[in-house]
Amino acid sequence: MNHQGLLQPLQVRGCSIANRIVMSPMTRGFCPGGAPTAEVRDYYARRAQGGCGLIITEAVGVDHPSALGDAGLGEDNIPVLHGAKVLQGWREVVQAVHAAGGKIVPQLWHQGVLRLPGTGPFPEAPVSSPSGIWGEPGQLTALAEDKIPIDVRIGLPMTEAEIEQVIDGYVRSAKGAMLAGFDGIAIHGAHGYLIDTFLWDKTNRRQDRWGGSRAARTRFAVEIIRRIRMEVGPDLPIFFRFSDWKQQDFRARLATTPQALEELLGPLADAGVDVFDASVRYFDKPAYEGSTLNLAGWAKKVTGKCAMTVGGVGINKGMYDGKSDISAVDNLERVMQRLDNGEFDLVGVGRALLGDPHWPRKIIAGEQVSAFHSAVLTRLT
Ligand SMILES: Cc1cc2nc3c(=O)[nH]c(=O)nc-3n(C[C@H](O)[C@H](O)[C@H](O)COP(=O)(O)O)c2cc1C
Repeated sequence: MNHQGLLQPLQVRGCSIANRIVMSPMTRGFCPGGAPTAEVRDYYARRAQGGCGLIITEAVGVDHPSALGDAGLGEDNIPVLHGAKVLQGWREVVQAVHAAGGKIVPQLWHQGVLRLPGTGPFPEAPVSSPSGIWGEPGQLTALAEDKIPIDVRIGLPMTEAEIEQVIDGYVRSAKGAMLAGFDGIAIHGAHGYLIDTFLWDKTNRRQDRWGGSRAARTRFAVEIIRRIRMEVGPDLPIFFRFSDWKQQDFRARLATTPQALEELLGPLADAGVDVFDASVRYFDKPAYEGSTLNLAGWAKKVTGKCAMTVGGVGINKGMYDGKSDISAVDNLERVMQRLDNGEFDLVGVGRALLGDPHWPRKIIAGEQVSAFHSAVLTRLT
């Protein structure tokens, strides 16, 4: 197989990425007190040694009291990006990844309505959301029943002052990322967490400047991106993850046509996004009728920015499609066809890289890889 396309470097602003394989962000929960340990450092360094050009870290809580808690997936020991000890821990992670020839960016996260009330480092903090709405009841979701609120009205709509405080928290964490030496910033705008609830019409019912039209629903994300760009300057790339699917509703859609997608992503691109990370569960699923382009392909087409695909690369089952019968599968040729056609620029790999830290190197060399098994989630291998 000719892997040339995958092995091409990519320059995004001041960041030179050695090849097109990216470790997709994956929450692990091995950072006691929010600080990455030496095991976390070695875990990321192994993926850089194994051939990942870029690593997007596990989601990192932004510096705001309601950012983190139990989001229904049993997360604990989630990292943050503020405080001297934490930043020193990240500095060591970044140095180890750089020493192995990789680049690394942190994924900034605020859980919004998916943080269970009363949990996290600040249990008394209110749940943050645009309109005090969790989602729509009765939809298909992988969340355990006791994590789905009986009443979808949850907390109060954020006030102007609260919105400002959260945006400030994102900016402080982006500054922390710079101080730790990261190569860029990734923003988690997907999966039903805070930013996504502003984008999604089911959870954003505001009639002020933060809601209403599709363009107005992007304002919260736009402000975060714009202010992060002002803070970090022109050299650091900004990645933005978005998705149709939500934890609250797997079948949700943010945009049902390419034009709607353009209305949604255009303002984010203008605000400073360099790479759109389109989170889907199967990379080869066409996003809209009449074209084979996937969601990343359309993100690239309607914005002119770089895009990253993800979802089932090297693995036979999409995320959430059951824990049994998961096996490694060689579908790289189909990924590369799309990459070579210019559909997207980067290829995100999640579970395959948890199964085998040297997945990129081995796949390129034609060696056997160790398959992902859910048991690997219980430790940092
Ligand atoms: C254990 C685990 C944790 C994850 N945590 C995050 C996360 O923190 N942020 C995020 O955007 N996506 C997260 N994801 C989704 C992955 O980034 C990726 O999109 C998904 O696993 C599909 O890719 P794959 O089929 O290659 O595994 C997680 C996935 C897994 C398996």
